[in-house]
Amino acid sequence: MAKILGIGNAVLDIILKTDHYPHEDEELRALSRHHQVGGNVCNSLYVLNQLGHESSLMTTLGGDQSSKQLLNGLQERRIQTEHIQRFIQGQTPTSYVLLNEASGSRTITHYRDLPELSFDFFAKVEIEQYDWLHFEGRNIDNLSGMLNIAKTFLSHQPISLEVEKPRDGIEALLPQANVIFFSHHYAKAKGYANGRTLLEAMREKAPQAHLICTWGTEGAWYASPDKPVQHQPIETIPQAIDTLGAGDTFNAGVIDSLLNGKTLSEAVHAGSRLAARKCRQTGLDNLMTEIKDKRPLANIKQVTNAKTLVVPCDELPHSVVLIKYEDSIKAYENNCPHQDVPLNEAYKIDVNPFDKTMKCSVHDAFFNIEDGLCVEGPCINDELTAVAIEIDEQGDIYLAQ
Ligand code: FRU
Repeated sequence: MAKILGIGNAVLDIILKTDHYPHEDEELRALSRHHQVGGNVCNSLYVLNQLGHESSLMTTLGGDQSSKQLLNGLQERRIQTEHIQRFIQGQTPTSYVLLNEASGSRTITHYRDLPELSFDFFAKVEIEQYDWLHFEGRNIDNLSGMLNIAKTFLSHQPISLEVEKPRDGIEALLPQANVIFFSHHYAKAKGYANGRTLLEAMREKAPQAHLICTWGTEGAWYASPDKPVQHQPIETIPQAIDTLGAGDTFNAGVIDSLLNGKTLSEAVHAGSRLAARKCRQTGLDNLMTEIKDKRPLANIKQVTNAKTLVVPCDELPHSVVLIKYEDSIKAYENNCPHQDVPLNEAYKIDVNPFDKTMKCSVHDAFFNIEDGLCVEGPCINDELTAVAIEIDEQGDIYLAQ
């Protein structure tokens, strides 16, 4: 467990989920609306907490109603808030986010009039107690002094710097950091076609640092001092649900791995995996929980009442027998209670549409399709094991959760 101090923006994200990205002047009804704590550093710190670290935020907050909401949200995320500089003037920085459900893309309109963190405020904090300092590349006038202090007073703690947007004077700060995260927005704004060319150019300005550039679906480029630039492709995922904060999650994954003594290549790989994991869910909660890839057993179109459909099922000890019964679908484990053999061991499972039964092919036990009860044969009154299923809007049949 490490103690990490993040210095950057705390933002209230107001998120509208829509089924497509609107065109100009369109009126669109959102599918849902919610708000959450945001801001790059806040997001990274929240993920670092989930990775087992203890994180603290240094930022500014206004005096309006939303700032209380923000503070509560930070505390709920167990981000320590003892280094908050309060301002009476200025409102809570707010991002209005359109989250396109179809692609997972997020479009952000940001409003900010709150003053930035002052150098004096930073200078009073005992930064030596932290194991890692992570700076957002903003507030350049003050950031320069903060990085100077950090360089002067810290003996072994790494300093990371996130360069998301081009800002006057930011490149002069690159020699002060040990790890630099560049975004593709920055690279594109500076005229670079990919992360490789950006990092090759940045190497001269920051010969001492680990350099990383993330590029959405194109993956990430990275280079350690004196090493050539390498590329890490993205992890493929079934579907991106929400990409808001994916880059911040990546940064947290990299910081965590480097804190754990991993190489830059391992760290970038871990960051990519974590970012991909994040894109598969809404928000940043419970990122350490594994998502089980659900595979449907079958689709309702494949299931009739005239014959059974036997499908494999890794989660159960036996395959599954599916059959239509009136308007519903019945599912049973493919195992005859008579001798623990698959019902279709000797031949197919015959269906009698008049009695509404199906027959085990081994010793002719007849089972009600409706409830799996054996009504005739060697195991009369025994039952097939029913399988709980659920069917989604596409008609895909899954084991019930
Ligand atoms: C996501 C994010 C949002 C925030 C915006 C600030 O990376 O940090 O949470 O509103 O970017 O630029």
